[in-house]
Amino acid sequence: MADAKSETQSSNQMWGGRFASGPDAIMEEINASIDFDKKLYAQDIRGSIAHATMLAHQGIISAEDKNKIVAGLETVLKEIESGAFEFSRKLEDIHMNVEARLATLIGPAAGRLHTARSRNDQVALDFRLWVKEELQKTEKMLTALITAFLDRAEEHADTVMPGFTHLQTAQPVTFGHHCMAYVEMFGRDRQRVRHAIEHLDESPIGAAALAGTGFPIDRHMTAKALGFREPTRNSIDTVSDRDFALEFLSIAAIAATHLSRLAEEIVIWSTPQFGFIRLSDAFSTGSSIMPQKKNPDAAELVRAKTGRINGSLIALLTVMKGLPLAYSKDMQEDKEQVFDAAESLELAIAAMTGMVRDMTVRVDRMKAAAGSGYSTATDLADWLVREAGLPFRDAHHVTGRAVALAEQRGCELAELPLVDLQAINPAITDKVYGVLTVEASVASRTSFGGTAPSGVRQQIAWWRARG
Ligand code: ARG
Repeated sequence: MADAKSETQSSNQMWGGRFASGPDAIMEEINASIDFDKKLYAQDIRGSIAHATMLAHQGIISAEDKNKIVAGLETVLKEIESGAFEFSRKLEDIHMNVEARLATLIGPAAGRLHTARSRNDQVALDFRLWVKEELQKTEKMLTALITAFLDRAEEHADTVMPGFTHLQTAQPVTFGHHCMAYVEMFGRDRQRVRHAIEHLDESPIGAAALAGTGFPIDRHMTAKALGFREPTRNSIDTVSDRDFALEFLSIAAIAATHLSRLAEEIVIWSTPQFGFIRLSDAFSTGSSIMPQKKNPDAAELVRAKTGRINGSLIALLTVMKGLPLAYSKDMQEDKEQVFDAAESLELAIAAMTGMVRDMTVRVDRMKAAAGSGYSTATDLADWLVREAGLPFRDAHHVTGRAVALAEQRGCELAELPLVDLQAINPAITDKVYGVLTVEASVASRTSFGGTAPSGVRQQIAWWRARG
């Protein structure tokens, strides 16, 4: 009797039947996932309630047992949410922690919950539900960021700034247009999120260990109860698939990459040398030694978070690579990557939304920079094509000579006297000065998708109509 007791204590209560003794300490250390998968408690309990309800509906367990199970699970949920629940590493993961507590609360009826189910389909369900909710949250957060950019674009549809290629002054653009470029990027991220929600919207529960079950379960019923479109079609694929996690991480990596580009621009723009924006105190820090400094730490950290998020994608791709079907314990390594990436992405989006809303745009500095660096040289070339009938290549050459002359004189293109321009090409008239200002330059870029303020307002209206 005493022996039997110690045997049940030391071997696992879920599969103790076959095991004479408990695991080595290091086995417990490497095997346990409770420290991180306890995050899935709400999804686990929701899944179990749906499963038990279906089992009773199908006559697989009694209504009485189902009622006990559901009431017990609700108590467990409350215990976890109040912080009273004691998680145990001996019980390995969230599934067994919940079930063991249920057994203590309601007795033998708890043992019927795991009928026609395995932890393999259970974890696939819990994690999918979690990722689905995270994607829904991400969609909302991206919408807030997009809205922040739309508001700034509207405010600055006419504000001129230098547009860059190779980070060299290229052509004048409007700050509104630049903001709308980010709206496009984050709009694509949001589309990817929406598609991912559609892709994962199938319920894994009922695939059991890998082969399905002989019990007359109704997977359509559990799918519906859990808010999925339909059940998954192949039980082997169901327990071996982590595409939903990989898709989340790929989307997160692309979005983080976008966020890092924005972060980098904020870092550059807020330097005294550029001075295009001023960050609010809310999103910068001071230096402990240099009193004059205001550092864009939040932007720098967003830029850095991309490293973690991209790392998580590579980590999980590498875990999944070469795994034979169906479930392998390797897949337990999926959660920490996703949880960490999700937390980093949320922080990064929130910080960027705050910065975009808060930053002061220095219109005067942008305008001054927009006119420097011969940014309207292309406008001169285009004018020569339009008004003087030159082939573009010749116009490019003429303009090059004008730029060289201005450079030599240390002045802007618009400051070159007409006689000097005419010495380069006699077809030039004083009308040319009308296109050499930055305002005229941006206003002329009316091609679809171009930087003219009218075009920027069209872009804003297109996005506003789509929410
Ligand atoms: N903790 C496990 C995981 O996260 C749950 C599934 C375990 N299944 C198994 N057959 N050992 O993947």
